[in-house]
Amino acid sequence: MFGARYLIRALRPCSSTPCPRHKPSARLSVRDALGAQNTKGERVKVQGWIRSVRFQKEVLFLHINDGSSLESLQVVADSSFDSRELAFGSSVEVQGQLVKSPSKKQDVELKAEKIEVVGNCDAKAFPFKYKERHPLEYLRQYPHLRCRTNALGSILRVRSEATAAIHSFFKDSGFVHIHTPIITSNDCEGAGELFQVEPSSKIKVPEKNFFNVPAFLTVSGQLHLEVMSGAFTQVFTFGPTFRAENSQSRRHLAEFYMVEAEISFVESLQDLIQVMEGLFKTATMTVLSNCPEDVELCHKFIAPGQKIRTYAKKQLFNWGVDLHTEHEKYLVKHCGNIPVFVINYPLALKPFYMRDNEDGPQHTVAAVDLLVPGVGELFGGSLREERYHFLEQRLARSGLTEAYQWYLDLRRFGSVPHGGFGMGFERYLQCILGIDNIKDVIPFPRFTHSCIL
Ligand code: 4AD
Ligand code: MG
Repeated sequence: MFGARYLIRALRPCSSTPCPRHKPSARLSVRDALGAQNTKGERVKVQGWIRSVRFQKEVLFLHINDGSSLESLQVVADSSFDSRELAFGSSVEVQGQLVKSPSKKQDVELKAEKIEVVGNCDAKAFPFKYKERHPLEYLRQYPHLRCRTNALGSILRVRSEATAAIHSFFKDSGFVHIHTPIITSNDCEGAGELFQVEPSSKIKVPEKNFFNVPAFLTVSGQLHLEVMSGAFTQVFTFGPTFRAENSQSRRHLAEFYMVEAEISFVESLQDLIQVMEGLFKTATMTVLSNCPEDVELCHKFIAPGQKIRTYAKKQLFNWGVDLHTEHEKYLVKHCGNIPVFVINYPLALKPFYMRDNEDGPQHTVAAVDLLVPGVGELFGGSLREERYHFLEQRLARSGLTEAYQWYLDLRRFGSVPHGGFGMGFERYLQCILGIDNIKDVIPFPRFTHSCIL
């Protein structure tokens, strides 16, 4: 074990060795090469995949992309280079001088001195064709290759940026990040959409179940977050979530990512709504300012006509049946195609943990959903029932008293008013990028009858 003082000393850069950050590096990413200022013919090495090959009067032009940006780097070589293997899709390593480009299309280009093909690509057999814009449905057939296209490249870079922005939002707001378990013995939502977890082979366990009790892939980290909010006040989790929903709809997956927050000492839905709104706005502003080209590509070519809409809130009351996709669409449209908060749902329709509003005759709980244009429900949240006797009665009515003794304990030992929410991360990406199908915003989609790779 290292002592903390030893660790700090070991990690401190030694005065005789230069800090790696300042060490000149021959290898540049395409993004760094494109962003190089005042290039004076530095010798660099760039690695990536060929996006285009073009000959023009004794000169060979290549465009190289390594996924670090939407834009590719132009490589200029004289025609003495053997170009037979320089096919669309091949991987290459190019060494040369980074120079100012005479063309207005780009600021810099790489004057090649050496081009080495790392891996050939049979362009005829490659499912994507040079200069062709393939529809997203077509790309979906190639989950192992589609990340090499501009469309998936942009979507997945935005996904990465949005992930970091969401973590920053919570960190900056004083939340503690909790790793909630993936395997759990509870069904938080009570909807029965569970995948059960058991060993695949008959290993020798005397009990019926591997964990002694039936265990499932999590449908929500909420209950574990509630435990943690009882110590850290403000907590969040952001991880994979699983639902055995028999749906191939454009907004459902069997495995998706959920951003969940839980906050102690929250007394009104309004406080929760503020955090939900803050998360959406801050993460979206960060994505827009950090990868404008990627967002632009999605809006321009993937979802023409879609734009990020002004964010405003309205409150509506609805009574009776649960909201279905059609109702959600109607509500959003009715409010002028803007995001809409719907609050106070009928008690009978919602899980046991939501706080009773003690109203009547239309008995409601303090729940809040955020519906957004094109996607429908993006966030689901509520105040939690923190009063021991109310919760005890709700659990008894659902026959859950025994299993949820630990949950009741949280109300026995220093209970506080609290609440939280969950946001479907893929639906968030669909919303800001205007992508119609949820299967196109996750690297490897899993849904009924499909688990490719
Ligand atoms: O509304 P849900 O079911 O809420 C919960 O699970 C709460 N326990 C969260 C909490 O309060 N901590 O799910 C939250 C969000 C939905 O609004 C939706 O955006 C997304 O998760 N979601 C799905 N996304 C993709 N595929 C599915 N099958 C989804 N089911 C829910
Ligand atoms: Mg919901």
